[in-house]
Amino acid sequence: MSERRIEVAALIGSLRRNSYNRGLLRSAMLLRPDSIHLYEVTIHDLPYFSEDIEQRGNPAVVRDFRAQLDRADAVLICTPEYSYSIPGVLKNALDWAARPTGRSVLRGKPLAIMGAAVGRSGTMRGQLHLRQIATAIGMVPVPEPEVYVTFAADKFNQLGELTDQTSRQLVEELLHNLAAWVDLLQD
Ligand SMILES: Cc1cc2nc3c(=O)[nH]c(=O)nc-3n(C[C@H](O)[C@H](O)[C@H](O)COP(=O)(O)O)c2cc1C
Repeated sequence: MSERRIEVAALIGSLRRNSYNRGLLRSAMLLRPDSIHLYEVTIHDLPYFSEDIEQRGNPAVVRDFRAQLDRADAVLICTPEYSYSIPGVLKNALDWAARPTGRSVLRGKPLAIMGAAVGRSGTMRGQLHLRQIATAIGMVPVPEPEVYVTFAADKFNQLGELTDQTSRQLVEELLHNLAAWVDLLQD
């Protein structure tokens, strides 16, 4: 693995203030390998995607969002599952990043996915949809490990920190593998 710093842009699929998935990102920031610099790119202020807006020229908030992704070597998405899929706000953000055809800022970038849910599926179905979307827009989803944090209420403490040891190990392993995929694709 190379010694250079790998820039990883992180998106959170939940706008909830005390989001478990925000807690996952905070844990990732603590557990990341030294070679990775992880920074959050917020999706809160993006307008709903419309080709009319795009044709008039992207607003500053969209240009800034795309620029922050463009400079990344890889992407991490921490997301809940909504109705067996990904939240609409996340899909909207990915549409802004991937459009227009041929000018995607995500194409060719490795993608690490992790998710926390209060139920027993741990976002498994949502992550499958996200892998499908990622493939459609030319990203390279890291195959393993799959990080599903089930019964999230039992796995985070009151400060929103991930306390479950197995989940922490999986987060660590996924970030390590993400760095390896960046090396593999950029060699
Ligand atoms: C609109 C909506 C749909 C949801 N659908 C699912 C679902 O399909 N599967 C699931 O495991 N949890 C589902 N949940 C529950 C989420 O797992 C739970 O709200 C979780 O805390 C969301 O993640 P967050 O804490 O990062 O906001 C849903 C919640 C909402 C608000």
